[in-house]
Amino acid sequence: MQGLKIAFIGGGNMAEALIAGQIRGGHAGSNICVSEPMQERRDFLARQYGVHCVEQNADAVTDADILVLAVKPQQMQAAVNGLSVRLKPDTTVISIAAGLSTASLHAWLGADAHIVRVMPNTPALLGEGMSVLFSDADEVHKQRAEYVLNACGESLRVDKEKKMHAVTAVSGSGPAYFFLLAEVMQATGEKLGLDEAMAAKLAAQTALGAGKMLVESGRSAEALRHQVTSPGGTTQAALDMMYEMGMPAAIRQAVVAASKRSEELS
Ligand SMILES: NC(=O)c1ccc[n+]([C@@H]2O[C@H](COP(=O)([O-])OP(=O)(O)OC[C@H]3O[C@@H](n4cnc5c(N)ncnc54)[C@H](OP(=O)(O)O)[C@@H]3O)[C@@H](O)[C@H]2O)c1
Repeated sequence: MQGLKIAFIGGGNMAEALIAGQIRGGHAGSNICVSEPMQERRDFLARQYGVHCVEQNADAVTDADILVLAVKPQQMQAAVNGLSVRLKPDTTVISIAAGLSTASLHAWLGADAHIVRVMPNTPALLGEGMSVLFSDADEVHKQRAEYVLNACGESLRVDKEKKMHAVTAVSGSGPAYFFLLAEVMQATGEKLGLDEAMAAKLAAQTALGAGKMLVESGRSAEALRHQVTSPGGTTQAALDMMYEMGMPAAIRQAVVAASKRSEELS
């Protein structure tokens, strides 16, 4: 797939994460074109990644085998206006816009467009993203989307579009939940006498280590929690307090609230 031409509409944060991943993965910058309204941003992306940058969306899409729509949801309709007639018949169209349904994208790009809807998350910026895709297009288009996404982390598929709300609630918004936990752990470490830098380092490295154990140990979160909790010990004291204060219920309600909000926004 490295010979495919990839075009991006919008050269913002998520587009940059995906572009950086493609370059790291060996995709030539000369096969990537980015359409972005800001001159300064175009200059930066061209300098940093060796990609071709243009101002007009129409100029980016003509040759594209894969078109990545990376503008904010509220900017999307204007951004894709007039593009459908310029797409090749087999172009794969990937949208990373939160909450925008494939039905809306088909309405704007035509019923024949091969659309793959994706929910990425911000760790994609470091090549550790979790992306989930939904598509009613042919297998070849899903595989092309996976080629783009897997350069920035991992990807999975869902078979029903409505599952994207749950995906948004768990992995899309999820990094913020872990950041809140780290924030409170750091602040409390400071209250207990640690200096700021040390408390921040302890919280961050602990999050990284716990995350790696979750991903690499092959054991469930519950099993790992039991493994590190000695009866009557310090971890047990902390977890007992978390249950007493209703933390698992709060997290449950929080994830449900994110999913409901995703439904409302779409
Ligand atoms: N960031 C995340 O954590 C995250 C996670 C999951 C999904 N997403 C989705 O990813 C998409 C992009 O998010 P982002 O954080 O990368 O946003 P962003 O940094 O604001 O990037 C959007 C870029 O598109 C440009 N743009 C605006 N209108 C355009 C148009 N008509 N044609 C071409 N380019 C246009 C913007 O330029 P201006 O700045 O000049 O407007 C900006 O550079 C969103 O739809 C969001 O829902 C983001």
